[in-house]
Amino acid sequence: MEQKVLLSLSHISKRFKTELALKDISMTLFRGEILGFLGPSGSGKTTTIKIITGQLRQTGGEAMLLGTDSTNIDASIYEKIGVVSDNSGIYEKMTVWQNLSMFAKIWQVPRARVEQVIGQVGLAEHAKKPAGKLSKGQTQRLVLARAVLHKPRILFLDEPTSGLDPSTAVAIHQMLLNLKEEGMAIFLTTHNMEEATKLCDRVALLHEGEIVEFGSPKDICLKYNRSKKYDVLLNSSEELVLEQNPENIRRIAGWMEHDEIACIHSCEPTLESVFLEVTGKVLNI
Ligand SMILES: Nc1ncnc2c1ncn2[C@@H]1O[C@H](COP(=O)(O)OP(=O)(O)O)[C@@H](O)[C@H]1O
Ligand SMILES: [Mg+2]
Repeated sequence: MEQKVLLSLSHISKRFKTELALKDISMTLFRGEILGFLGPSGSGKTTTIKIITGQLRQTGGEAMLLGTDSTNIDASIYEKIGVVSDNSGIYEKMTVWQNLSMFAKIWQVPRARVEQVIGQVGLAEHAKKPAGKLSKGQTQRLVLARAVLHKPRILFLDEPTSGLDPSTAVAIHQMLLNLKEEGMAIFLTTHNMEEATKLCDRVALLHEGEIVEFGSPKDICLKYNRSKKYDVLLNSSEELVLEQNPENIRRIAGWMEHDEIACIHSCEPTLESVFLEVTGKVLNI
């Protein structure tokens, strides 16, 4: 089956005065996928989202969002997309329920959908709380709830779990996977490689405004798996990292024959180590 393109970027560049923040960005987002834009702080992630969603004008190239040129989109596009970024736009004095009901009115979304979404993001027991009294993680869930209330075709998330505790981040990951199951395409930026590996069908590794690798996390990691290695823990508690060569294969086979291995696994590179190899930079900063 042919994959449907929801978004395509072709040779996008962006100059801020003297700084070339984006150099030459090309990629596509297909229906039903989670696509990750992965890069350290300052690599151009937010700028890319702003250009796609028509909040910022690019210097060169073309972005087509749901068949419309991003330099030419009007307010009606917001019926088809959801955007979660730093500026949450939540009214602190209004309750969770009131915040969502107000947006539901604007989008002409039925009341039942508000209830459904509050349940989905796990805020049912906080529905009557003023939004200003929510924790950081709860606020992020509310922002997410608002962004998906109208069942957008594409959800844009700019570092959705940044600064959240691990258990809240896991809850948000599960929500995103559920939304994907419902058919929503998700464009997500992150500097967290574990998050990207876990969630994304494909990732773009962004470095100083350029995509230096693009593909599924698994394919990218395997591509950089040049010297195959195995991590072996023996029953004797001895731990070894062995390169794959005829001698080591014979040693491993011998241990296996005598049931001496407690644990063995292959050491493929992670997205983090690939990023380090390609750019010479550590990602989690
Ligand atoms: N409005 C702006 N004016 C000038 N420079 C900007 C502006 N927005 C972003 N930049 C610069 O562009 C680069 C990319 O920024 P950004 O897209 O926010 O990165 P990220 O989201 O990956 O952290 C940074 O060097 C940043 O300082
Ligand atoms: Mg950013």
